[in-house]
Amino acid sequence: MSIPTPTPEDKFSFGLWTVAYAGRDPFGEPTREPMDPIYALENLARLGAYGVNFHDDDLIPFGSDDSDRAKIIERWKQGLSDTGLVVTTATTNLFSHPLFKDGGFTSNDRDVRRFAIRKVMRNIDLAAELGAKVYVCWGGREGAESGAAKDVTSALDRYREAFNLLGEFVHDRGYDLKFAIEPKPNEPRGDILLPTIGHALAFIDTLDRSENVGVNPEIGHEEMAGLNAAHGYAQALWHGKLFHIDLNGQSGPRYDQDFRFGAGNARGAFWLVDTILAGGYDGPVHFDFKTPRTEDDKGVWAAAAGNMTNYLILRDKVKAFRADPEVQAALEVAKLPELATPTLNEGETWADLEKAELRDPEALTEWAPGFEHLDQLALEYLYGVRG
Ligand code: GCO
Ligand code: MN
Ligand code: MN
Repeated sequence: MSIPTPTPEDKFSFGLWTVAYAGRDPFGEPTREPMDPIYALENLARLGAYGVNFHDDDLIPFGSDDSDRAKIIERWKQGLSDTGLVVTTATTNLFSHPLFKDGGFTSNDRDVRRFAIRKVMRNIDLAAELGAKVYVCWGGREGAESGAAKDVTSALDRYREAFNLLGEFVHDRGYDLKFAIEPKPNEPRGDILLPTIGHALAFIDTLDRSENVGVNPEIGHEEMAGLNAAHGYAQALWHGKLFHIDLNGQSGPRYDQDFRFGAGNARGAFWLVDTILAGGYDGPVHFDFKTPRTEDDKGVWAAAAGNMTNYLILRDKVKAFRADPEVQAALEVAKLPELATPTLNEGETWADLEKAELRDPEALTEWAPGFEHLDQLALEYLYGVRG
């Protein structure tokens, strides 16, 4: 099997903050130099990426005056047109500045909340101007370390108020832009509000313009919570809410590792690719990773490329697995086609079911689904001895 090469048709995109991550962590200073955003664009284009995503502050340092801001944006637009990269997505940094120490939309301080919403509005204007179609909202500081510090009921009211207002803003401005909420269980807060895909989906349902709000699940964040990310993505697809994805690598419940995609839980990554292909997800395949601080600039681009290579490898493997007649036979034995059949007949009611002749429990027990054989076939594809 040859090593696949990414092309813009694969729709790979990267957060500007991912490749520009200089290696600062809670225990140490950066190990790499700050990265010029145009240098990031050039290298992403060289590697075969399609798009970029950025926080307002990744591009325009917090506190820049209007004239500096305008110059930075002009230079950014030139970089985009020179490299052919597309702004697929944008987002707001509501977590780095000390003012957001207790959150943005749900800070206990009302003036902080007003500041936060205004910051988002300003960057939405820029996002729309640059052609972004999705606006990601990751509420990393929306949370608490202790019980009495946050009234979760009021915080959710304020969270909803912010999304309702921003929904109104996007609508009134006539922007073709959808919101995607990114769940995360913890880090940087001890506990973060909307910690999983399920929490976010339930919250979205309560919004005024809920049709315009979906989720941006990060595979690593679901795994931090000990959850099966593929199941979460599948449910988001089922609700029609998978508006964007953040792919990376994570080894089980621990700190947010943000490894390159395919590192960490490789089996989880295989089923995640299977899920998004089956569900027809057609948005950007976006990577949110951090290159470990052991690496130099060359290592950054090796890691960036590795995300795409690993996705393409898994995509090939998943397709080969699904096309294999032995797998299809195993799926029949496992009764997957039967699960897609409604439990009641057309027109049948509970009263009919009450009278219906059912199969004998002993006979029902005889079915041997063969799930282990089915999974072994998948693992043999993943381990590279089949296909
Ligand atoms: C994380 C988060 C962030 C967000 C990004 C978008 O690693 O904790 O994924 O990287 O995705 O900040 O707002
Ligand atoms: Mn993360
Ligand atoms: Mn993310």
